[in-house]
Amino acid sequence: MRHLIDPMDISMTELKDLLDLAEEIIKKKEDFNQVCKGKILGTLFYEPSTRTRLSFEAAMLRLGGSVIGFSDAGVSSAIKGESIPDTIRTVSSYVDIIAMRHPKEGAPKLASYYSFVPIINAGDGGHYHPTQTLTDILTIRLKKGQLSNLTIGLCGDLKFGRTVHSLIKSMSSYGNKFILISPQELQIPQYIKMELFNKNSSFMEVESLEDVIDKLDILYMTRVQRERFFNEEDYIRLKDSYILDKEKLKLARKDLCILHPLPRVNEISYEVDDDPRACYFEQVKYGMYIRMALILRLLGVM
Ligand code: CP
Repeated sequence: MRHLIDPMDISMTELKDLLDLAEEIIKKKEDFNQVCKGKILGTLFYEPSTRTRLSFEAAMLRLGGSVIGFSDAGVSSAIKGESIPDTIRTVSSYVDIIAMRHPKEGAPKLASYYSFVPIINAGDGGHYHPTQTLTDILTIRLKKGQLSNLTIGLCGDLKFGRTVHSLIKSMSSYGNKFILISPQELQIPQYIKMELFNKNSSFMEVESLEDVIDKLDILYMTRVQRERFFNEEDYIRLKDSYILDKEKLKLARKDLCILHPLPRVNEISYEVDDDPRACYFEQVKYGMYIRMALILRLLGVM
């Protein structure tokens, strides 16, 4: 039985297969609308979500399956003190596959030790968010037609942004350059820099978006993550470090692809949404298709 806990659980060959399958689903949706008939997805969300939970649920429904679960741990028996192992042994007796989000790093990994069915990590604290990484990679492949030889700028909260860490780990395997744009306090953690060193990936750290925006093929904006700060004053000081607006975009290439895992707060002005380079709402849609592909492969139905 396979689980997806860390983006690195998927080999490059498996990743290519998932991307190909997602593209096939996009092209021939009607061929897939009954393939999970009789299967049930459990969505266990101990932390808020719009895109991840609803795209998982939409994915399973579009495959002809069903969904049960909770979107708030407060309505589950976790509120009475039930442990993750007991919850997982229970829910995995009812469903065929589980997508789980939890604020504690490692919770989905723990769940995978007790589950009778595949566990998909739908985000664990500041740790991993592998299906967002799959979403980002599918979007890059569809928008740029390639996964290598790109200059990728990642901007904002590079310290707490779990999607950034996972994306760097994955995209560094394809021979890309990285420009890491953040305030000093929100720089990328050392262990991610070590990954880049170990893979001989070219990267530089800068504070100014304007200084480098003209060099980028991809600009991956991120939200400063209020929920990960210990101190509200630090959050308020740093939250508007970067705001991408039309003025800054005048400096960028015509074929720039702007991504954001969403939700956004202030870091991309609403005026940017109409720019053809803004790809973050297409990214949202591709997230559903890659999750359809993932469900199919983990269930082994295709
Ligand atoms: N990108 C993402 O994980 O969004 P949600 O928190 O809304 O699921």
